[in-house]
Amino acid sequence: MFKRMSALLLVGATVMTMAGCGSGGTTSASQPGSGGGDDKITMGFSQVGAESGWRTANTKSVQESAKTAGIELKFSDAQQKQENQIKAIRSFIQQKVDVIAFSPVVESGWDTVLKEAKNAKIPVILTDRAVDSADTSLYKTFLGSDFVEEGRKAGKWLVEEYKDSTETVNIVELQGTTGSAPANDRKAGFAEVIGADAKFKVIASQTGDFTRAKGKEVMEAFLKSNPDIDVLYAHNDDMGLGAIEAIEGAGKVPGKDIKIITVDAVKDGMQALADGKINYIVECSPLLGPQLMDLAKKVVAGEQVPTRVVTEETTFTQEQAKQALPTRQY
Ligand code: AHR
Repeated sequence: MFKRMSALLLVGATVMTMAGCGSGGTTSASQPGSGGGDDKITMGFSQVGAESGWRTANTKSVQESAKTAGIELKFSDAQQKQENQIKAIRSFIQQKVDVIAFSPVVESGWDTVLKEAKNAKIPVILTDRAVDSADTSLYKTFLGSDFVEEGRKAGKWLVEEYKDSTETVNIVELQGTTGSAPANDRKAGFAEVIGADAKFKVIASQTGDFTRAKGKEVMEAFLKSNPDIDVLYAHNDDMGLGAIEAIEGAGKVPGKDIKIITVDAVKDGMQALADGKINYIVECSPLLGPQLMDLAKKVVAGEQVPTRVVTEETTFTQEQAKQALPTRQY
């Protein structure tokens, strides 16, 4: 009897696990179609994907913080596709969750689905990335980094690094996902700062989709068509790390023959900085989970929250990376 019951429990558990593992799938501990049914807050969270070390750390932060805060999380991985995020949000609306949070893969095209959430009286929190909707009543708040400022910080380091040089500085840029807020803003902030001095020339700029593989592929193409690259500006560590492989493959020394600036400061990036293969990293913190859960509790309780919550961040030189690495959380 005991064995039969254990077997039934095991089958049940396996079915639940499988239901949560499908592509673009949603994981949940509660019955579909319910918002949880008790006082516990249920949050539907649509994540961009798992494209980078940053994203993996962000997912972990959200999942762990939900547990700590006693919030039931319905988590959906969109695999970098906007249509999957729209489907996930519609499914959260049908399930009558208490709050929806999502990190929009691109900035545009959200108005219709956000209006559906508003009509269903489900508050929405943007995390990490912004949308370009003119109607800001479609979401309660936006929690995340100032990506324009991150681009400016990258540009300021470069200006300082070459302050005594009068020669042209040839820069190649690996952009993040086309149409995403961090790609648009990091490009704009960087261009704003280096644009003040004509010696800085962006000779090639292309998307590497925030992935290591694409960063390597695009950097290989850059190296083939541009023999005199002085600087690489990569919108995240992963693309920078892929590019390092391409640079080494071309017989050049990353960090010396080609100076490298990246954004994020995940462990692998910080290690490359400590090793002298990257020259400077602008931090972008993925640890948004605790703040997100606090905001969720407040909006569900009908409390006022600030419309914008900016993440605190710093920058790293080689020496600072060496010091920070032993205690780096992600
Ligand atoms: O939106 C944040 C960006 O997305 C991170 O910088 C990048 O690594 C991630 O994929």
